[in-house]
Amino acid sequence: MTTTDGATSSAGPESKPAFDISKPTIARVYDALLGGKDNFEADRAGADIYLKYVPDAGRCARDNRDALVKGVSYLVRKAGIDQFLDVGSGLPTAKNTHEAAQDINPSAKVVYVDNDPIVLAHGRALLATNDSTSVITADLREPESILADAEVRRVLDFDRPIALMVVGLHMHFHDDERPDEWVRTLMDAMVPGSYLFITDFVDTGEPLQKAMEQAGLDSLNNGWIRTPERIKEHFLGMEILPPGIDFLARWFPEDPEGPVPAAEDLEPYQRILMAGIARKDA
Ligand SMILES: C[S@@+](CC[C@H](N)C(=O)[O-])C[C@H]1O[C@@H](n2cnc3c(N)ncnc32)[C@H](O)[C@@H]1O
Repeated sequence: MTTTDGATSSAGPESKPAFDISKPTIARVYDALLGGKDNFEADRAGADIYLKYVPDAGRCARDNRDALVKGVSYLVRKAGIDQFLDVGSGLPTAKNTHEAAQDINPSAKVVYVDNDPIVLAHGRALLATNDSTSVITADLREPESILADAEVRRVLDFDRPIALMVVGLHMHFHDDERPDEWVRTLMDAMVPGSYLFITDFVDTGEPLQKAMEQAGLDSLNNGWIRTPERIKEHFLGMEILPPGIDFLARWFPEDPEGPVPAAEDLEPYQRILMAGIARKDA
């Protein structure tokens, strides 16, 4: 439903989030880049800015989703994780965290957290019949509010290991905001044996990486790139599992010894995002 002031409300009567559709949001621009339908004209214009600077930006987004599934699959299959806190989860799309996890372990629990209320509205519809999965509206900038949320506490058992996912989110915060401190607060609440899974835009000095940053700044007013050394700092000193952080197309946590393409053989758009997983040992 679109109201006269340009806001939309698409949830049931119990919840009526109002969406400002006149400006692009991160979740809806990303949805547009993924080829989804949960976006509006301003979001499609935002996505077009990305495509102008980085014609393969849609493939970057899809590769990021593939990396998300790779990471979740590793965490369930090899690390034995059955609880996920997916912060900055985005709008539901082709394969979501709970589907990737529950395909392997049907009893896996997932809480999605996003600060864009459209994610809750669309997530509720997707998850209506799934008791093991929930979605809340909350902000990474206020990690205590995530930890105190009744739904988070209902679904996840903080006495057992949890995987914290911060996938495709750090780039939307400037370093001056110190996003690592918010993540630290969440990890501090988790027991040893928990994991941290991150993807982020990388800066290894390539023009297309810089173009991705400019696209983000023009489209959404955020979207910074970072050196690999800086991305490693996101992991808060925890040991990063093999193969370490790497470009998505070279990152196979389930088979870190397997054959991978040389970085220089990748397409430039495949050298924009890196992924990594670390384990909390103490
Ligand atoms: C680029 S999307 C990534 C979605 C998904 N994690 C993925 O990698 O496919 C980033 C998501 O983070 C959400 N987000 C942005 N800032 C946030 C914040 N401060 N707290 C929680 N979520 C946030 C956006 O609404 C958006 O849905």
